[in-house]
Amino acid sequence: MPKKQIIHEQWSSRLAFVLAATGSAVGLGNIWKFPYITGENGGGAFVLVYLMCICLIGIPIMMAEIMLGRRGQQSPVGAMRTLALESGVSSHWAVLGAVGIVAGILIMSFYSVIAGWAVSYMLEAALGHFNGLTGETAGAKLGGLLGDPLQLTFWHTIFSAMTAFVVARGVRSGLEKAVQILMPLLFVLLLIMLGYAISTGYFMQGLQFLFAVDFAKLTPEAILTALGHAFFTLSLGMGAIMVYGSYMPKGASIAKTTFIIAILDTLVALMAGMAIFPLVFANGLEAGAGPGLVFVTLPIAFGEMFGGALFGTLFFLLLVFAAWTSAISLIEPATAWLSENRGMKRSTAAYAVTFVCWALGLVTVMSFSSWSFSFHFAGAEKTDGMFDVLDILTSTFMLPLGGLAIAIFTGWVMKQVYVRDEIRLGQGVFAVWYQVIRWVAPLLLLYLFIHSLGFA
Ligand code: PFF
Repeated sequence: MPKKQIIHEQWSSRLAFVLAATGSAVGLGNIWKFPYITGENGGGAFVLVYLMCICLIGIPIMMAEIMLGRRGQQSPVGAMRTLALESGVSSHWAVLGAVGIVAGILIMSFYSVIAGWAVSYMLEAALGHFNGLTGETAGAKLGGLLGDPLQLTFWHTIFSAMTAFVVARGVRSGLEKAVQILMPLLFVLLLIMLGYAISTGYFMQGLQFLFAVDFAKLTPEAILTALGHAFFTLSLGMGAIMVYGSYMPKGASIAKTTFIIAILDTLVALMAGMAIFPLVFANGLEAGAGPGLVFVTLPIAFGEMFGGALFGTLFFLLLVFAAWTSAISLIEPATAWLSENRGMKRSTAAYAVTFVCWALGLVTVMSFSSWSFSFHFAGAEKTDGMFDVLDILTSTFMLPLGGLAIAIFTGWVMKQVYVRDEIRLGQGVFAVWYQVIRWVAPLLLLYLFIHSLGFA
């Protein structure tokens, strides 16, 4: 088989695609980021805005992105070029794919550092190092890790290597095999954690925090964060879902699979919130602790609870698994592109891309110590320098803008017959989805952007 076709292996079934895309969607975003940004933004009202963004913008754009991938049958750059030419417009639309590839590399660079914290904390939990932690000592523990670039680099390297190992093996024997093992385990671990949270007696308090809506707590920054997070959590706007879509069998329904993926992703985020906040409240801790929530607050809880070493290890194992199946999708677009255009072997491509992300990741590593600086964004103070810059640049700008471009291309540029032919929806459903992609999603996106950035 010529090299070029190796990257166009297909998932062996629809289930494999659903697992892989859910694996991409469910990650640090659900278990680390969602609870802490919910905590920072006051709970219920933020969750409501986030859910609305998922339904009105996320799901329709995910359908579009999968559709583009399956019709384009190549890496995002090649797919966008082919689709643009097919519809008789400029092949410069390929730039959209290229920007996506860059976004993936930027995200992976910091994603892998945070995932490295999780690998390190998994061992700490297993060794019983959480016993007797107080607010102060737990903070000092994370501070110690963050202030030690060598240690951070070590764990970042381990996680990068894990990711490269899977991606190098290809779609079926790498990606597919990994998600088939990791995703079911992830659900079991989450259920165990949820069971524990129910047993603390603070479950209702957790629910109330997540679902009691108080609009007074909703700031413009919160709305922008919710929008950015809807993209981040569904892995939208950068070609990861597009490239996964390009490996999807022709017969599988795009709408059905999208719904399943979005529902599972949302469920995991809510379940993670329901597993974490009761522990926070049971121990009298702070819900708005920020990025440290699962790395400072939870270890205190694990140190105090019965069987904490076991539950702590399971929790961080869950986080590592979730991050792993997402990281492989972050570097897949670049890997596919390199093997497609540079005639590189897939494994060489995977290692090359990982190396670039790893090297860039050193910037994030340093941002927690010597290179830290603070700045203001949309009214909030950010103190972790380049890490915050990268996070905001990608989740708040690149992904939503990528999503906007996907909506515009699908709704206004690509010929409707091709869209219809690939997405295969019934007349009525198609009409609704198409109008959402043409009008609702782009206008809402623009409105939220302009409004939240304070221009209107
Ligand atoms: N969806 C992942 C998460 O929630 O952690 C992060 C992510 C993966 C974002 C892949 C974008 C992406 F392309």
